[in-house]
Amino acid sequence: MNLFDHPDFDGHESVNFLADERTGLRAIIAIHNTALGGALGGCRMRPYENETEAVKDVLRLSAGMTRKAAVTGLPFGGGKTVIWADPNSEKSPELLRAFGDRLKGFESRYYTGEDMGMEREDFLIVGERTNNLVGVRKVSRFDSSGEVTAIGVLAALEAALTARGDKLDGMTVAVQGLGHVGFALCGLLREKGADVIVADVNEDRLNDAKSQFDATVVESDAIYDADADIFAPCAMGGIVNEDTAPRLKGRYIVGAANNQLSKNSIADDLAARGVTYVPDYVANAGGLIRVGHEGLAMRDERDYDDDVMLESVHGLGDIVTQILRDAESRGVTPLQAAEDFALSRVAEAEAARAEA
Ligand code: NAI
Repeated sequence: MNLFDHPDFDGHESVNFLADERTGLRAIIAIHNTALGGALGGCRMRPYENETEAVKDVLRLSAGMTRKAAVTGLPFGGGKTVIWADPNSEKSPELLRAFGDRLKGFESRYYTGEDMGMEREDFLIVGERTNNLVGVRKVSRFDSSGEVTAIGVLAALEAALTARGDKLDGMTVAVQGLGHVGFALCGLLREKGADVIVADVNEDRLNDAKSQFDATVVESDAIYDADADIFAPCAMGGIVNEDTAPRLKGRYIVGAANNQLSKNSIADDLAARGVTYVPDYVANAGGLIRVGHEGLAMRDERDYDDDVMLESVHGLGDIVTQILRDAESRGVTPLQAAEDFALSRVAEAEAARAEA
């Protein structure tokens, strides 16, 4: 593999391959950019088909984290870890400790925490070996960042609706994925008077959604054809593509999943169809804000405050308003407006770093 010429390399500062033969650890830590501050980005464990898939995933996710941190205004850069293993059969305390040992060497350049396939309990074990963790200590009343991310998705969605003269009350939202974020989001949507149509591969979660939210359940693939005003992807990436985009009936896509578009040009197709797509890294920045505030409190040796953090999460609505206004006035897609907004902050910080 030629990493420097990889289509997703995108100027990464470093890509580290970490291994431990004794425990079977195979992990990749990609640090995309640290101009705004030390990189933040979760650690995902997945049984990738091959190394190529793992590399692609980590590169795309860490570049997304740089943009996500930049739009929030927090002084952090972007990075990500993938551990190439099956969380159901290959996760062991020894492997987690070995990962902690490797992570320690990154010092203030990179901090990580929960992502798919990794639970808080796993990080308590990783934390036996390193302090390079955020979102693991019990400082917040939110047990998982998923709930906070859902609050941010709702703020982003309401801002998008307001910008287009709509309101959530009476609308129907198709929620794909009822995990930490999707399930919490359904609850918030119901409180706002919206109906939910849901899909998941987990029967128990579907049953819970039916009983708690009076949700309409559809087969996994049928969520793209649902009679809904809004599509909220909260499971995996790449789900808005040439096949699914024409099937969506709603005029909004706002959700938590990372890398929702199979490629950036899908944003143009969506705009041409009159669909408002709120870029994923803006809509789902609540989780980063949650751990970012904890990281700042740690760095500055002061108490962490949930209320201050939540104010910042609600502020995602203002960022969406600004991005949609900018997109409208310049005749570009919201994705382009978000890219310009985020990357101009990074470029400014890079220029300042080069001069220092
Ligand atoms: P999770 O792992 O708790 O939930 C994912 C859900 O999707 C599970 O219920 C799973 O059964 C379901 N699912 C899997 N395949 C599916 C399919 N084909 N169709 C429908 N449902 C399917 O993950 P979580 O934490 O809720 O995150 C959801 C997404 O949001 C992920 O892409 C994650 O990277 C992203 N995200 C999460 C954040 C957080 O704070 N948890 C922050 C930012 C992004």
